[in-house]
Amino acid sequence: MGFSELLRVCGVAIVFFQLITAGFGWGQHGHYAICKIAEGYLSENAMAVVKELLPESAEGELAAVCSWADLFQVRSHYYWSRALHYVDTPDFRCNYDYSRDCHDSVGRKSRCVTGAIYNYTQQLMSACHNPASEFRYNLTEALMFLSHFVGDVHQPLHCGFLGDLGGNRIQLHWYRRKANLHHVWDTEIIDTAVKNFYGSDLNNMIEALQRNITENWSNYVESWEECDSNRTVCPNPYASESVSLACKYAYRNATPGSVLGDDYFLSRLPIVERRLAQGGVRLAATLNRIFKSCGLISNAGREVQGARLA
Ligand code: ADE
Ligand code: ZN
Ligand code: ZN
Repeated sequence: MGFSELLRVCGVAIVFFQLITAGFGWGQHGHYAICKIAEGYLSENAMAVVKELLPESAEGELAAVCSWADLFQVRSHYYWSRALHYVDTPDFRCNYDYSRDCHDSVGRKSRCVTGAIYNYTQQLMSACHNPASEFRYNLTEALMFLSHFVGDVHQPLHCGFLGDLGGNRIQLHWYRRKANLHHVWDTEIIDTAVKNFYGSDLNNMIEALQRNITENWSNYVESWEECDSNRTVCPNPYASESVSLACKYAYRNATPGSVLGDDYFLSRLPIVERRLAQGGVRLAATLNRIFKSCGLISNAGREVQGARLA
């Protein structure tokens, strides 16, 4: 193979890799932070059930499996789950409506991130309150998907516009590097903050978020946890908040070809930090409600695709 042929093959491979990894969810750091925060707010009972359901490779740590749904092996093996990571809304409307927006690209209803959150909550609830049904579902997977999707729905551009695929089609620069807007919100803002402000250690950022929750945001935590009319789970307001933040902060001043630097980074970081904190607190509140008055449940289908790599 000649050098130019080699370059071409590498180029195709890189483009292919970018296509299949485009816009999966918060990057690994975001999902890890959300689930680490959630761990600190789990009730004793929920923690016990979660530990029962986690795959062995997680070693009792929920955060270890929160990016599982984004693993390449999982996304190729569970191809049907692709549309469950986001919900796109009509361009420039800046609002979200479950019955209008929650469908996949061929119009199948409930196949979106909020629909998936309802679905996996229902699977875990039915296993808990009707143990005979537990063998119909893989509860380990249900827990890992739910924990991941509650994170995703808090990423503003996972409830972005249909026309640009939640910012995936908006090509621009993050400082001096090429990026797309979606990736900026999944990964770049968090990684830049970890590097510049937290000594390149994600744990320092998580500790700062935990301190913010108990100090600066303590008055809001109860309202974050609330779910209307005693429901178990309520992803719709989270999606509405996301699209509204997408319009107000993510899309603003981020047109194709623009260069995002300090101004954008420093003004958007507080939004990202609050979404990570809200995602963590709400994931814990949801799991606490699901597993309230639930005895330990065991799961026959613990061996799941790619779990050992998580
Ligand atoms: N693919 C299409 N729309 C998307 C979105 N909003 N987020 C992630 N991936 C997507
Ligand atoms: Zn995702
Ligand atoms: Zn994403």
